[in-house]
Amino acid sequence: MRKHIVAGNWKMNKTFDEADELVNDIMAKLEEVTLDANTTMILCPPFPYLEMVSDYGDDSYFMVGAQNVSDQESGAYTGEVSAAMLESMELDYCIVGHSERRAYYHETDEIVVRKVDQLLKHGLRPIVCCGEVLEEREAEKQYEVVKRQITDGLFHLSAEQFADVVIAYEPVWAIGTGKTATPEQAQEMHAFIRGLIAEKYGNEVAEETSILYGGSCKPSNAKELFANKDVDGGLIGGASLKAEDFIGIATAF
Ligand code: PGA
Repeated sequence: MRKHIVAGNWKMNKTFDEADELVNDIMAKLEEVTLDANTTMILCPPFPYLEMVSDYGDDSYFMVGAQNVSDQESGAYTGEVSAAMLESMELDYCIVGHSERRAYYHETDEIVVRKVDQLLKHGLRPIVCCGEVLEEREAEKQYEVVKRQITDGLFHLSAEQFADVVIAYEPVWAIGTGKTATPEQAQEMHAFIRGLIAEKYGNEVAEETSILYGGSCKPSNAKELFANKDVDGGLIGGASLKAEDFIGIATAF
């Protein structure tokens, strides 16, 4: 059975003390609930807080991921953080190709390829984001766009490498807007993505791939979204900044 994953993408939010408080709150709330045994919780704080958050996760209450990684191995790349560095901190996951990185930092599919390769080389699992912007959906181009992102960003991998990849479908028009994709829209796209994977790598690999939904996911809509056959969890932005909301989503299976 493929993994259910609820990953919190904190983005560029919280001071160190606020971040510390958030993890404390999450740990306290975790005491009160039971997570489905098949659910993995991942926290993706900003780089400077990775170690602090990892220390809390020691007893495997949750796994820790970075929000970004360099596409280069090492050297004179001021301000960048390499996959080798993340590996040396024993991190588990890293988000790649988020729409904010694509839109504001010109992250192309070619860059996504290099980042994914770096992460896999260093034993981290990439959470690769894809999704169309509003104009593309209005022009009914969402399938074309997502197919290009998945094909160009990931299909150079071997089936064995692909087994470590998590996909997040995040319609850009739903990110941070309070506008969520309907459960039907999410299911349709997730089934489409799984179909692409099956065509390329076969049914077995496709059935094992976790495909997360992202975009204004909250406790009040998570159950409905996660009830769909091909929705294996969520990549959560805004609602991951409040322990109660994040745990509410993580327990929605
Ligand atoms: P949101 O962000 O939950 O705030 O819409 C999701 C994301 O960007 O990963």
